[in-house]
Amino acid sequence: MLTTADNEALTRVGRGTVMGNFMREFWIPACKSNELAPDGMPMRLMLLGEKLVAFRDTAGRVGIFDHRCPHRCASLALGRNEQGGIRCGYHGWKFDVEGNCLDQPNLPDKNRFPAGTKAMAYKTAERGGMVFVYMGKRPVPPPLPDIEATFGPMHGDGIALTQRDCNWLQALEGDIDTSHLGFLHAGLIDGEAIEEKDPQRYTVINKAPKINVADMPFGTMYSAQRPAGPGEEHHRFACFIFPFWVTYPSDMIEHNVSVNAWVPIDDENTMIFNIDLFRGEGKDTAMRYKDGTVVPTLARPLEYLPRTNDWMGRWRPTQNRGNDYGRTEETLKSTFIGVSGIPLQDQAMIESMGPIVDRSLEHLASSDRMVMMTRRAMLAAAREFASTGKLPEVLDNPAISRTARGGDMVVPENTDWLEGYEEAMKRAVRAPVTTG
Ligand code: FES
Ligand SMILES: [Fe+2]
Repeated sequence: MLTTADNEALTRVGRGTVMGNFMREFWIPACKSNELAPDGMPMRLMLLGEKLVAFRDTAGRVGIFDHRCPHRCASLALGRNEQGGIRCGYHGWKFDVEGNCLDQPNLPDKNRFPAGTKAMAYKTAERGGMVFVYMGKRPVPPPLPDIEATFGPMHGDGIALTQRDCNWLQALEGDIDTSHLGFLHAGLIDGEAIEEKDPQRYTVINKAPKINVADMPFGTMYSAQRPAGPGEEHHRFACFIFPFWVTYPSDMIEHNVSVNAWVPIDDENTMIFNIDLFRGEGKDTAMRYKDGTVVPTLARPLEYLPRTNDWMGRWRPTQNRGNDYGRTEETLKSTFIGVSGIPLQDQAMIESMGPIVDRSLEHLASSDRMVMMTRRAMLAAAREFASTGKLPEVLDNPAISRTARGGDMVVPENTDWLEGYEEAMKRAVRAPVTTG
C-alpha cells in the first residue's frame, strides 16, 4: 500500500507537481512521425495535462506549442498550417515551429510587434519514427534516450499507440506485474499442450514464480524465476527505465528489442507507445500448441475507433469500458475474463481499477516486489529532484540503459540471475544505433 500523499506525488503530472516537474526534464514521446504531414492540419495533442498543438511545417520541421495563440488565446488547433508556419484562424498572426511570430496582418505596419509575441513552443526532436518533445526547464535539453528500440523500427511500422483510460502509473505497473500472465492471459490454457521449444510454456505451467529484483543505474529490473527442463531454470526479465519506459519480455533476451513508454496524457489518461524493432520484419512471438496452431485467444490485435482531432481522439480501441470489452457468457468459455487478445485483456483489467488507483486499499504480496521497488525508486528520484535539483544518471548519460532489455532465458539451475542475464546479453542481436 501507499499513503495518500505518496500516491498523489507519484501519480499527478500537471505542471508544478512533484512527478510532473520530474518527468518534464526527460524527452517525452509525443506522437508518431507519420501522424504529422508537411502543411497538414494542426493536431490537438495533450501531454501531462497540457493542451498543445502539433504540426509539421513546409520544410518538414515539427512544432509543438501551447495551443493558445499569444494574441487573444484562440486555439491554434483551428489555425492554418501553411508556408513555413501556423497561422491563427482568428486574426491571422503566424508562428514558425520555434514559436517566433512571422506575421501580424491585422495591424498597420507601424503597430506590429512580432518580437514580443512568441508562442509558447517546446523543443522537439525526431528519431526512429517518433516525435519527442522536451517540456523541461533546461535551455539546452538533455540527449535523447538511448533505449535500443527507440532507434527503430528497422522495417515497416513497428510502433503501435493505444490510449488507456487511466493514470499512467497503474498502466505502467501492468507491465511489471508478471504473475498475472498465468491467469488473466493464460488462465484457461493448458501449459503442457504448448510447444516444448517455447519457454513461455513455463509461465503457464508454473503460475507462482519467485521474483528477483534489483535497483539499477537506469531504474529497476526483475526476473520471474521458475523451474524449466531437468536441471534448468527459466527467467523472464523486464526493466523499468526512468521516467516511464519498460523493456518488456516478448521473446528470448537475445532477440527481443522492444519497449513500452507509458506517457501521461493527463492524470487520468495514458498514451502507450509500444515499439518493437523487429515487428516489421515479421517477428513472430505467438504462443503455439504442439501441433503448430497459434493460441488464438492471445494473438488478437487491437482494433481502433475512427480517429478524430479531439484531445482524446487518437488510438482508442473499439472494444472498451463502454461495451465491456466484448465480454459475454459465451466468450467466458474461451478466455479467463471473456476478453480476447493480450493487449485488450491488460486494458480491461487496468482500467477496471478506476482512473487513479487508491493504493491505500492494496495488500501487496511477494509477487509485487517489482511494483514496490519501482514505486520506491520513482518516488525517491522525483523527490530528490524537487529538493536538490539532481536527476537520475540515465538522463545525461543515457548509454547506461542500452543493455536494459526484457525477455526470456533458460539457464542451468542455480545460475545467478544477473550473471545469466549478462551472459545472454553478450550473445544478443544488437539494434543498429544511429543518431539520425
Ligand atoms: S487570437 Fe490569434 S491572431 Fe488573434
Ligand atoms: Fe498483461
